[in-house]
Amino acid sequence: MKVLIHDSAEAAVAAIANRIVEKVIAKPTCVLGLATGGTVEPVYDAMVQKYEQQKVSYSRIRTFNLDEYVGLSPDHPMSYHHFMEKHLFGRTDIKSENTSIPFGNAVNPNEEARRYEAAIKQCGGIDCQLLGIGENGHIGFNEPTSSLSSTVRIKTLAPETVRANSRYFKNIAEVPRLSITMGIGTILCAREIVLIAIGDNKSKAVLEMIEGPLSARCPASALQLHPHAEVYLDEVAASQLTLRDYYEAVHPNGKVES
Ligand code: F6R
Repeated sequence: MKVLIHDSAEAAVAAIANRIVEKVIAKPTCVLGLATGGTVEPVYDAMVQKYEQQKVSYSRIRTFNLDEYVGLSPDHPMSYHHFMEKHLFGRTDIKSENTSIPFGNAVNPNEEARRYEAAIKQCGGIDCQLLGIGENGHIGFNEPTSSLSSTVRIKTLAPETVRANSRYFKNIAEVPRLSITMGIGTILCAREIVLIAIGDNKSKAVLEMIEGPLSARCPASALQLHPHAEVYLDEVAASQLTLRDYYEAVHPNGKVES
């Protein structure tokens, strides 16, 4: 795992967005795995900016989002379909037929989960997966104690995730309790993974993810098993790491070779 510590949130955001854009330029037909949440909003802003500056085109990429709330239709304002349209898809030349997000309103959510896992495999797998991390160490909606080899399935949100995500809803009672999410095994199949964590509220999860132990207690610690995972941090999110001198010696200012 490459631990890339940046001196500000802005620098970490710019670095991870540049990394993704570099990958699209190198392989215009690449398959990106995408995330939602507050942390990735500025990453998408930066990706949109590169498109507006005509530095990159997303017209040939294929995308798969990590997750969706069960029970929300794509046009629901709190759905992840809506989030992606607002923050990325609707602002670039990404073709909507090349984007996939699980359907939270599917009649049979378990069948939808199987369909989604198969669709990822059918298109040859994910080249680069973007991730955020929950305060409890979740990735996607894989909450603590999720199987480390899980595939796309229905997961119940942890109470702390319901609380954290209630900031987007009118009240906590409106937050769906179930999600369809890529599994940890699905995520680990991506050929490359880039994760971003910003701020003090993520520092404990960041410590557990990077310095272990490998445990279903912290789902993100599964990234220790991945041969090509990069973690983009601001100084605050990195503040609890005990081997920080080492990470900074290997990657001064969060620099990583292309
Ligand atoms: C959403 C997702 C989640 C978020 C995580 C962090 O698609 O995958 O795992 O990345 O909950 O969310 P923020 O960035 O809002 O703190």
